[in-house]
Amino acid sequence: MAIVKGGLDRVLVLEITRVTEAAAIAAARLRGQGNNKGADKAAVDAMRRELGKLAIRGKVVIGEGEMDEAPMLYIGEEVGTGEGPRVDIAVDPLEGTTICAKDMPNALAVIAISEAGGLLNAPDMYMDKIAIGPGYPEGIIDLDRPVQDILSDLAKAKGCPVREITACILDRPRHQELIEAVRKAGAGIRLIPDGDIAGVIWTTDPTQTGIDIYLGSGGAPEGVLAAAALRCIGGQMQGRLSPERHDSKERPELIARAAKMGIPDIRRKYSMADMAADDVIFSATGVTSGSLLEGVRFHGDFAETETVVMRSKTGTVRRIKTTFRDLDIKGWG
Ligand code: FBP
Repeated sequence: MAIVKGGLDRVLVLEITRVTEAAAIAAARLRGQGNNKGADKAAVDAMRRELGKLAIRGKVVIGEGEMDEAPMLYIGEEVGTGEGPRVDIAVDPLEGTTICAKDMPNALAVIAISEAGGLLNAPDMYMDKIAIGPGYPEGIIDLDRPVQDILSDLAKAKGCPVREITACILDRPRHQELIEAVRKAGAGIRLIPDGDIAGVIWTTDPTQTGIDIYLGSGGAPEGVLAAAALRCIGGQMQGRLSPERHDSKERPELIARAAKMGIPDIRRKYSMADMAADDVIFSATGVTSGSLLEGVRFHGDFAETETVVMRSKTGTVRRIKTTFRDLDIKGWG
């Protein structure tokens, strides 16, 4: 595969859509079955199979876990044919395993690809996140600013009262204080059950989505994927690892894990560019229907998918609707 000087091969933009399409179709077969793990495994298998066909020397930097916990798409796994450009890959084959298992809105199959070294190797722990869409002055969002000030500045910049600002927050007990602070400031809140990659992307189109800002903690891997998407569409984001939010593991263990992954300062604030630098391509295919993407539709041996694929270098955002025929012949049945 020819490499366009100074960046990723543009052919990859179309090639990676196949990867998320395949994962979405595989997971969608198990929508509503109450089988989180089964749907996730189906998506992982399909994604790995399709990645294996790409002419890349890919390294998974955000994956299904460490090598000893995940048999496939583990951090550090080499994927692709072994010929072609060296790239880093962040995957979330099924973002929203519970929402897929319940057939609720906004489950996605997601991938981001960058030149080698272009994506933050974030460990699997929580990350505090804040994100807004394009068109705002720099400096409004800062994880260390009081949320009231952020909302007030955001409203000023948007030219509306704070009551017309809506924040998207994961519906979790750990966000109780944050929720109270946002309500006290007068802004509205959309609580989501899962799926904060979509939550961050919604901020890029408030007119359509009604979401102006994303706030709260969620998975760090999802944070990097969301930053990759925002890097393509535009916007601002900050993330900071939050090991203290994990109660299942000892904090020193998480700090050691981060250090092993090249993060000496766990309290570092990452900008969007720190998380997804240089040239990055992001693709997401809908598994269940939501406000970002249609979910997979099956008609006998046919399937229809909707994918959004974008590239930071060009700012191009494509929405691709694909009809697959003869899924069994493709091995996607
Ligand atoms: P899964 O796909 O692994 O179920 O993750 C869904 C999700 O909601 C993410 O979007 C989010 O970042 C994370 O879980 C939040 O974690 P938790 O459910 O522990 O609050």
